[in-house]
Amino acid sequence: MAMDLIGIATTGGDAPGMNAAIRAAVRNAVSKKLRIMGFQRGYTGIMANEFMPLDERKVGGIIHEGGTFLKTSRAEEIRTEEGISRAAKVLKKNNVDGLIVIGGDGSFRAACALHKASDIPVIGIPATIDNDLAGTDTSIGFDTAVNTALDALDKIRDTATSHERAFIVEVMGRNRGFIALEVGIGAGAEIILIPEIEFETEQVCRRLTDNYRKGKKSAIIVMAEGAGDCMEMTETIKERTGFEVRLTKLGHLQRGGRPTAYSRLLACRMGAASIDFLLNGERKTMTGIEGGRIVAIDLEYATTTYKPIDESQYNLALTLAT
Ligand code: F6P
Repeated sequence: MAMDLIGIATTGGDAPGMNAAIRAAVRNAVSKKLRIMGFQRGYTGIMANEFMPLDERKVGGIIHEGGTFLKTSRAEEIRTEEGISRAAKVLKKNNVDGLIVIGGDGSFRAACALHKASDIPVIGIPATIDNDLAGTDTSIGFDTAVNTALDALDKIRDTATSHERAFIVEVMGRNRGFIALEVGIGAGAEIILIPEIEFETEQVCRRLTDNYRKGKKSAIIVMAEGAGDCMEMTETIKERTGFEVRLTKLGHLQRGGRPTAYSRLLACRMGAASIDFLLNGERKTMTGIEGGRIVAIDLEYATTTYKPIDESQYNLALTLAT
């Protein structure tokens, strides 16, 4: 099918670099004489037929900004058949020849359903701070979130050392520990708790007291939000060890902010490649990166396959945290 009009939307949780990806897709599309329209507020905007025509100038001055100028939403309705059928009708009515969805796993599942219902080619650009999509080494925004959390951890370390306290720092990642693992290693955390690796609270307390005996008077425990209840963990450690423990939840602080150089470059490469993929006839594809090369991955594979953590990284953290 000849390509003329492309639709683009950012969906689900925002991630730093989404704007750079939109800009790259738009500018590459324009250079290839394609028209491109931006749906607003993710799938909510697609279902409601809310869009704006995009061109080179409309995407000027956004490469360095976090968030997404197209806005985004967690559109519950797109999980239903009615939602998919409404979105498919809007795309058909506008004569959209290809859709680019910039988001995470939930967004890609909906994109697959939308492709099935409409036969319109869909390309997913992985943009989630969680980095939990199979088929791509990393996703837009992950590097920025890790650096943002790392900056916070470095500051907390000052207080932990000065007061000889233990800190539990909860980082994002929904059900996965990718952020916690990288931040934990980078911050030199004494303990990293992630959902992928089982642990006992008793074991955590023992490690803290052993460290104390060996002369380590402060500690940082990086805990992924999916690894358990961090408030309960804080109280239990206080009770069982008698240490002064403080809890910091980094929360949404990790989702915004200026994208790092790496997140921007990745977004530029993936945004531009997605247009080329559509022109090359890809129909249900995620634009991934593997070993530094941009690759076309089946979109369904990306959402149905479990992406394992790198256990050697976890073991490295254990070796270094002595
Ligand atoms: O998927 C990104 C993410 O930030 C997760 O790490 C977190 O669990 C979730 O989104 C929070 O979602 P919301 O912003 O909708 O509360």
